[in-house]
Amino acid sequence: MSKTVTVKAHTNIALVKYWGKKDPKLMLPQNGSISLTLDHFYTETSVTFDPHATADQVSFNQKVIAPQKAQRIIKFLDLIRERSGETARAIVKTSNHVPTSAGLASSASGFAALAAAGSRAAGLELSLTDLSRLARRGSGSATRSIFGGFVEWHAGSDDASSYAEPIQDPVDWDIQMIAVVLQASKKPISSTAGMQRVVTTSPYYPAWVETANADLVAMRQAIAAHDLAAVGELAETNAMRMHALNLSAKPAFNYFTADTLTAIKAVQDLRANGINCYYTLDAGPNVKIICASSDTGTIKTALQRYFAASQLIVAQPGPGISITETL
Ligand code: DP6
Repeated sequence: MSKTVTVKAHTNIALVKYWGKKDPKLMLPQNGSISLTLDHFYTETSVTFDPHATADQVSFNQKVIAPQKAQRIIKFLDLIRERSGETARAIVKTSNHVPTSAGLASSASGFAALAAAGSRAAGLELSLTDLSRLARRGSGSATRSIFGGFVEWHAGSDDASSYAEPIQDPVDWDIQMIAVVLQASKKPISSTAGMQRVVTTSPYYPAWVETANADLVAMRQAIAAHDLAAVGELAETNAMRMHALNLSAKPAFNYFTADTLTAIKAVQDLRANGINCYYTLDAGPNVKIICASSDTGTIKTALQRYFAASQLIVAQPGPGISITETL
């Protein structure tokens, strides 16, 4: 009898970003990255390999996805079949626990949950390190979502050496993120295509790799020292350098909207007034504010001059994957 495995995986936000692959097939990144897994946003995925199914069936928030739109997931299931010897097609049910249209539902929690649920449903018993390596093949940022707290993804030089590991979990000091959820215009370019364009066309790319590697060293120290200002400053600088790459690509692109710049300015103003807060941004308009929970009230009040309370979501450090199995 085929078993169903359900996995919950949380999303993560990079503090030192992954933005470029040196091997797109194996999904090896150009540089290592460090992230914080968040409690508030997660994906839950169940996988069953069904000997009676004639095709892989993927549903997302209870809606079946057309096979041509599920290609990336089907390819990933093929990888699991190849490794496990499983031949049946899969029933995949996935639900995203992210506030509607938050634009934070990343492939990170999605592929972390799929890697863990799919591999176990196919009879593989992988270590967390091997799950991290497998998740990487679905989406780079998923490599880190296997683990909770602060996580580092080692770039590595081949499939075996490119995986994530926790550097601090649980997080026993006061650091959190406030997501400023902004209206997305049509995404100018996917993260996969955007980072590829940057690697091939930005003259600044070598400087990015060099500075990102230095940021990794400094970020490890800042996290170990529980130094919010150092973590925040490093994360902010690193994020802006990543977005500067996008502006220096040919053709140039960016993910900012006018609201993004408003939120950034609000964080800068708060800081000028002595509040210890910093921002980071990914491949979309949302701004994530890095701060202490004791400043939540002040920051929310300031941001509510421009945004609705419902656009401000407070997230704490979150856990790694959890797995449940049923027959
Ligand atoms: C800006 O992991 O979505 O969030 O590996 O092509 O699926 P693929 O890209 P993805 O890129 C994430 C980029 C980022 C930075 C980060 O999470 O490190």
